[in-house]
Amino acid sequence: MDKNKISIVILAAGKGSRMKSQKAKVLHTICGKPMLYHIIKESKEISNDITVVIAHQKELVLEQMSSYFDDINFVVQDAENFPGTGGAMKNIAPKNEKVLVLNGDMPLITSDSLKGFLDKDDDIIMSIFDLQNPDGYGRVIIKNGHVQKIVEQKDASSNELRVSTVNAGVYAFSKNIIEKYIPLLSNKNAQKEYYLTDVIAMAKADGLNIFPLLVDEEQFKGVNSKKDLSDAEEIMQAKIKTAWMHAGVIMQLPSTSYIEEGVIFEGECIVENGCRITGKTLLINSHIKAGSVIEDSTIINSDIGPLAHIRPASYLQDSHVGNFVEIKKSTLKGVKAGHLSYIGDAEIDEGTNIGAGVITCNYDGIKKYKTIIGKNVFIGSDSQLVAPVTVEDDVMIAAGTTVTSGTVEKGSLAISRIKIAFIKDFYYKFFAKS
Ligand code: UD1
Ligand code: CA
Repeated sequence: MDKNKISIVILAAGKGSRMKSQKAKVLHTICGKPMLYHIIKESKEISNDITVVIAHQKELVLEQMSSYFDDINFVVQDAENFPGTGGAMKNIAPKNEKVLVLNGDMPLITSDSLKGFLDKDDDIIMSIFDLQNPDGYGRVIIKNGHVQKIVEQKDASSNELRVSTVNAGVYAFSKNIIEKYIPLLSNKNAQKEYYLTDVIAMAKADGLNIFPLLVDEEQFKGVNSKKDLSDAEEIMQAKIKTAWMHAGVIMQLPSTSYIEEGVIFEGECIVENGCRITGKTLLINSHIKAGSVIEDSTIINSDIGPLAHIRPASYLQDSHVGNFVEIKKSTLKGVKAGHLSYIGDAEIDEGTNIGAGVITCNYDGIKKYKTIIGKNVFIGSDSQLVAPVTVEDDVMIAAGTTVTSGTVEKGSLAISRIKIAFIKDFYYKFFAKS
């Protein structure tokens, strides 16, 4: 694929008022990444010249996209004077002869699905699909097999509204068509916007060739509402999980788990039902049991859950983490933490057992402190480690002990308990039973 043959323009300046959100539409996330991220990522597979048109919340869009990509051109639309998808195409100067224009609200597009636009020589290639319910889309008017025009829903007659062939919103133009027709667009329509779609009728009137490319509805789905957003997310989720299963991951009831783009599995992993795995998580030869949540962490040769929560910046190796254990920003190597614990800002070494209900008290209300635990330590149930604290190797901490700041020396026992009292027949006196 010659990436220097084609330029891509992504329209991402609109408000997206149908989303009913403060946030710019293209920044809404799907599988953990903004919609616009997905479309830029796929575009980069086929082009070296990508321009994104921004306006609404432009600083935020720019900032977020710059955190992922460093080779994208941004052009600001004069949305006040030239609103609409046609307005967005003003001041665009693509480098290459062929220009692919994509709506920024189509996060399911893949580079493969765009290749169909590249191998034809028509003046304009536009994307169409047929919908049972074409609501919201521009209708494509075709006569005797030839595209005549695109009519936006708000401008359509009742006959036109019945047309089920719609404009999917991706076009390939030759550069001179953009240069010629964009300046000629007018805003004489229901929305008083400059419609990119009007280029079709103008080109047709001049006898140019317009090829309607039938595209896959699932991949070219536009996201205009939060319902569309969740539909699109479900489609992408299914794709991500299918790909991991093909790569060798066992998933039980995959439809009940959520796995973000960016998560990586290696070796043989099992994901039981109802798991959520997000961010830059790496899982190697591990078993994630039902109902567990893992965020931005590395898990190697370990089993997690059921119902465990591994929060960001955790590194777990050769470890067992059981139910109701929460771990945050901690490193566990060869550790067992079977039940009901909070482990935060800790480093725990091989052979150590964390009893049920153990808590690292890492926060004093102002600052966070670290807990360092050595090898082969046995921490009895319901103990608290008030950080900063260091527990050296081969230590035993008796159940119910509160270890306050300092060091527990190698080989020792730490125990803090009130001596137990046994009061004979207390129960019978208290409840006045004889
Ligand atoms: C558009 C098409 C419609 C098509 C549909 C497919 C037009 C006029 N209509 O309608 O025929 O069926 O997509 O999904 O093009 N944008 C800007 N600047 C603006 C307005 C929009 O950059 O001033 C961007 C948006 O951010 C969005 C894209 O263009 O990413 C499409 O805009 P949107 O308002 O969603 O267009 P639709 O009404 O869906
Ligand atoms: Ca749209």
